[in-house]
Amino acid sequence: MGVINENTITEAALEQMCGTTSPRFKQIMSSLVKHLHDFTREVDLTPEEWLEGIKFLTAVGQKCTEHRQEFILLSDTLGLSALVNALHDKRGSESATKSSLLGPFYRHDAPMMKLGDSIISKSKGTEIVFYGKVVDTDGKGIPNALVQIWEPDETGNYDLQLHDPSEMDLRGCFNCDSEGRYYFRGLCPTGYMIPMDGPVGDMIRAQKRHGYRPAHIHFVIGAPGYRELVTALYIAGDPHIDSDTVFGVNQSLIVSVNKKDDKSPLPHLAGLRYDFKLAAAKDAMSGRVGADPAQIISRAVH
Ligand code: BEZ
Ligand code: FE
Repeated sequence: MGVINENTITEAALEQMCGTTSPRFKQIMSSLVKHLHDFTREVDLTPEEWLEGIKFLTAVGQKCTEHRQEFILLSDTLGLSALVNALHDKRGSESATKSSLLGPFYRHDAPMMKLGDSIISKSKGTEIVFYGKVVDTDGKGIPNALVQIWEPDETGNYDLQLHDPSEMDLRGCFNCDSEGRYYFRGLCPTGYMIPMDGPVGDMIRAQKRHGYRPAHIHFVIGAPGYRELVTALYIAGDPHIDSDTVFGVNQSLIVSVNKKDDKSPLPHLAGLRYDFKLAAAKDAMSGRVGADPAQIISRAVH
């Protein structure tokens, strides 16, 4: 081995990893080391600064619980989750509805409901009807597609942030009808601040960012033979629509609530219509960036 200095260290580290058996793991780790070293040289990182970085990452880990995933929040606020989503969409064999962040408040165990039911059990706010179709890329309805939904209450909090986690509110799962149609009642979405009481919040404040997400409602939609779609619909006119702290908004996902909607299955309510397009499954890869923290932790433990 030659002399280790600020330039030769990169080759030396890569050399030690060259026996990695998985080609993909080797590619990812080699590239990570190269970019990390280049970054360190570029900013001429000092030991004190790196110690600060390590303290920050430690605090991010310590903030994680079964119901909170601070690392996902970090990935979201750095734009990394949105970047991974964009690459995932590009990799699809057909063009489908764009992905958006899963975020930290998804639960896999939301109750199954019947079309037309309300996902509101505790919250007070303006009830509206969400409806539309789940279609394939030819526009044909996908019978029985599963639509999972969750949204914050009128104060901008998810049930996981407020209640005993066994009590669910503003989430539900619906099977579409035989023509791929869905409809359910929920709250007119409200914008909110991402969780700011942890190290990610400290970072956001230090960067003088507002910390808000524009009003939205989340969807995970799936059917056998199709790529799972993780997305959200964003309400036009929200003051933070162009400056989402986690970069989840895509123009094609911005919608308006129609106060009088005669085509709605529940025309006495204001309506929000959106048709979701699913691509055929090319591979078994999920579109989830971010996940139910409890699932991540239980998978890590087993
Ligand atoms: C959410 O939309 O639920 C969310 C996404 C990323 C960070 C925080 C919240
Ligand atoms: Fe959200």
